[in-house]
Amino acid sequence: MYHFLIFERDTGELVGKGGMHSLSSKHFGWPEVGYSFKQAAWGKGYATEFLSGFIDNWWSLPRKETELEVDPRSVDFEAGSSSPTIGERLTALADVKNVGSVKVLEKTRFSKFSEWTGIDNRAASMGQEITLAGFSMAAPLKDSS
Ligand SMILES: CC(C)(COP(=O)(O)OP(=O)(O)OC[C@H]1O[C@@H](n2cnc3c(N)ncnc32)[C@H](O)[C@@H]1OP(=O)(O)O)[C@@H](O)C(=O)NCCC(=O)NCCS
Repeated sequence: MYHFLIFERDTGELVGKGGMHSLSSKHFGWPEVGYSFKQAAWGKGYATEFLSGFIDNWWSLPRKETELEVDPRSVDFEAGSSSPTIGERLTALADVKNVGSVKVLEKTRFSKFSEWTGIDNRAASMGQEITLAGFSMAAPLKDSS
């Protein structure tokens, strides 16, 4: 669990939350980041600010080697490569109709790798059809200088 509450600097008010609940998400196998803000705080750039900061912090954390079973669509296989070692990805999930969230992901350098339609199981929209998209980003290249 690597999850944060987000407060407005000027007022100290709690405006949102974000981060991840597990290092291996049920959707893609990779760590998956999510976020949510109070409606009154939308449109102020907070999601973009949070996600940019989270991403920088996430990739700066120490690593150890591990094995994960991941969605193969989240990975670019090099033609002819049989290497089982693949660079780490950070993933995110968005309702394609959630234009704001998709924009935040694109602005913070995530790329869409999958899209599928299923049945929504959230309380407010239970049973309705929903189209979701998977997004991923690769770990930044290490500066060798
Ligand atoms: C989606 C959400 C996180 C966006 O938060 P936010 O703080 O308003 O996002 P930002 O202000 O950083 O950026 C949103 C961008 O999308 C744009 N946007 C938002 N809604 C839009 C819409 N309906 N149509 C077009 N653009 C839209 C904004 O103009 C902004 O773009 P800009 O930076 O070019 O001006 C927020 O609406 C939210 O918490 N929603 C409920 C929970 C949720 O959907 N979480 C995401 C689950 S993946």
